[in-house]
Amino acid sequence: MIYTKSDIPTLNEVLKTKDAREIIAFFIDKLGDKLTFGTSLGAEDQVITQMIASISKEATIFTLDTGRLFAETYDLIDRTTKKYNIKIHPYFPAAKEVEDMVMKHGINLFYNSIDLRHQCCQIRKLNPLKRAMNGKEAWITGLRRSQSITRTTMQIVEWDDNSKKIKINPLINWSEKEVWDYIKAHHIPYNPLHDKGFPSIGCQPCTRAIMEGEDLRAGRWWWENPDTRECGLHK
Ligand code: ADX
Ligand code: SF4
Repeated sequence: MIYTKSDIPTLNEVLKTKDAREIIAFFIDKLGDKLTFGTSLGAEDQVITQMIASISKEATIFTLDTGRLFAETYDLIDRTTKKYNIKIHPYFPAAKEVEDMVMKHGINLFYNSIDLRHQCCQIRKLNPLKRAMNGKEAWITGLRRSQSITRTTMQIVEWDDNSKKIKINPLINWSEKEVWDYIKAHHIPYNPLHDKGFPSIGCQPCTRAIMEGEDLRAGRWWWENPDTRECGLHK
């Protein structure tokens, strides 16, 4: 099955009465190993990993390993693959692109300007995403609408302009409480940083803990305005 942009309204209509597990099962059935899931090992992603592992090992799972992740995230990759007996394919950035960027702009270039921050995300995330999507027909993400003002209009199925494939967001309507209730009920391993004030975890230099009352993604690229705090994976 190959899905195009024009299939999206029908898919969203068909899927609107299904729960997250049913949505995932629907696409595993249609796409098999042409379906892939991108995990950053965040709380939402851990829910989806558990669901995929309990349905079928056919769908592949990948992570964009930027080289700047938290040590806790690498530990969680290890714990998760062992617990569910799965593999998580790491996609690394091209060595030469990273080397040239760092030689030209410095190791922590992302703090210097939004353009340089975007360049780093392009090289460490978006370019590797293209490789991860090679031969795939769709990718699953852990996006939720209530995560931020940049995500409030997202749908279960969206067109992904980066990969020119469909993107499936099974947890789009979930609240943060629903995510945590599911994690606790199913004893799903999660990043210990979540208990230390980090609701949203990306690269270590670009993520800080949030304070009481702050937006869930306030700790991501905290030095930028809320409406630019996306890395380009999700426009
Ligand atoms: S980000 O765009 O700001 O980094 P966020 O951390 O909220 O996004 O994650 C949203 C979804 O994007 C995750 O649930 C996951 O599906 C996907 N994603 C984010 N970062 C990665 C990554 N490093 N590797 C694979 N997928 C990722
Ligand atoms: Fe680079 Fe920060 Fe983007 Fe990670 S989040 S790729 S370190 S700019």
